Amino acid sequence: MNQYQLAVIGAGPGGYVAAIRAAQLGLKTVVIENRDVGGTCLNRGCIPTKALLHASEVYRQVKEASSLGLDIAQAGYQIERMHEKKEKVVLQLRGGVEQLFNANKIDLIRGSAAILAPHEIAITGGEDCRITADHILIATGSVPSLPPIPGIDLPGVVSSDQILEGDPVDYQSLVIIGGGVIGVEFATFYQNLGCKVTIIEAMDRLLPTMDREISQNLGMILKKRGASIYTGAMVEKIAEQDRILSCHFSQNGQEHSVQAQGILVAVGRRPNTQGLFGPQVTVQMECGRIVTGPDFSTSIPNIRAIGDVASSIQLAHFASVQGIAAAEIIAGRQSSVDLSVVPSCIYTDPEIASVGLSADEAKAQGIAVQTGKFLMAANGKTIIEGKDRGFIKVVCDAESGALLGAQLMCARATDLISEFANGISNRLTAEQMRRVIRPHPTFSEAVSEAFEDIEGQAIHIAPKRRPTK
Ligand code: FAD
Ligand code: NAI
Repeated sequence: MNQYQLAVIGAGPGGYVAAIRAAQLGLKTVVIENRDVGGTCLNRGCIPTKALLHASEVYRQVKEASSLGLDIAQAGYQIERMHEKKEKVVLQLRGGVEQLFNANKIDLIRGSAAILAPHEIAITGGEDCRITADHILIATGSVPSLPPIPGIDLPGVVSSDQILEGDPVDYQSLVIIGGGVIGVEFATFYQNLGCKVTIIEAMDRLLPTMDREISQNLGMILKKRGASIYTGAMVEKIAEQDRILSCHFSQNGQEHSVQAQGILVAVGRRPNTQGLFGPQVTVQMECGRIVTGPDFSTSIPNIRAIGDVASSIQLAHFASVQGIAAAEIIAGRQSSVDLSVVPSCIYTDPEIASVGLSADEAKAQGIAVQTGKFLMAANGKTIIEGKDRGFIKVVCDAESGALLGAQLMCARATDLISEFANGISNRLTAEQMRRVIRPHPTFSEAVSEAFEDIEGQAIHIAPKRRPTK
């Protein structure tokens, strides 16, 4: 039986990053993976969705190119070739992870791991064997949740996994159940290709956990591009006739139904612990999630858990920093990363990003705040690129001026947000954020403008500034 200092179960962004860090710190490390390395994020999540979104965005821009004075005779697409390109990107990145395993002398065992005892793991369904390890790190991720709706298992009703890993389908009409992150990103992708999209969301708005103004703006933009959106709506059943699916739902006591070629179910993801524990091993769980302490330990001290299987925040970069911190703790070091500031990004058009507290959240916590807001309609780069609907909002502590949060809806929001995450993590104040020179013309100039708005001392270098509040 092979012996290791650390066995990592799952090679997603949590597990593979943890394994690399542990190996760098000198631990003899093995990773066990029952599918492809890279996990959900690389194979059926972050990377494939963004590859498809990029292609569909370019297609839409080409169709709208005449507004830039360009004559492009005919724009077209082939969904199979878009998926082929996406697959190439995935394969390239997957190869990179495998190389890193080799370079860091990490053993990779293919198969499903079951923890038989606190230090013993059985691997089956691949390179079957048993191993022992001083420490076990569970990073088995999550899988799509399927609500108990009659008809949910009909052909044509799919999860994001099936859209991304199954045969490509060029939907002409698609109903999306769930107006959360997956729902709005897929809505953006299919709308870009001209598909008729309907979103059915149980809560009173899209992206219910985001800033309300972002939800409202996004709803308006998607509707303007032809989407139908039903919020506060509950799906009651799904039926099929002649390969057309009917989704029956109620909203405000009224019954509705909508027909479509396909239905995407995107109502959240549940922790993946299937087959993970042998009969002699029980760890504390809550709502299917493994309960962990601040050092990621479970109710069995040498078994830790990170990422989607244990965290209420299900994001790749959060899983990765947890992996780094867990590996450092296991190696007897202090954690080198700040786990308290987690930016969140949504790849719609315009992009959405947020970090820290919104003004409402700060007020609910009894914190007096000062806020600044800049409308992107007055940013030169934004006008050039025709992405004029959007804003940057900043929230600072009224007393100390410390940056507490930012909410962005604008081009490159997913890149700009790191500046705010850096500011919050390093406890910078509005004044410190404002004093930096940001180049012109860029989207990042809007960051300076948002902070200047706090002081009401904006210098009007951008074209025709609109009222900001
Ligand atoms: P996972 O990535 O799920 O990896 C777990 C791995 O463990 C899997 O490979 C699984 O096969 C393996 N495994 C499970 N059980 C066993 C076992 N018993 N034995 C061996 N192996 C096992 N997050 C972002 O930050 N940005 C995004 O843009 C983004 N886009 C997304 C888009 C979609 C469509 C989806 C579904 C998710 C997206 N996410 C995004 C979320 C992100 O993918 C997850 O938060 C992240 O992958 C979680 O990492 P993890 O390491 O915890 O688990
Ligand atoms: P989600 O939690 O973001 O959204 C699910 C939505 O479905 C919610 O708005 C919820 O109110 C709604 N809902 C729940 N039950 C419903 C029902 N029966 N009928 C109608 N609506 C219902 O979950 P989602 O979109 O499935 O994504 C899972 C996770 O994956 C995200 O929370 C996120 O952490 C991660 N992800 C991250 C991305 C990114 O960072 N860009 C992209 C995609 C996913």
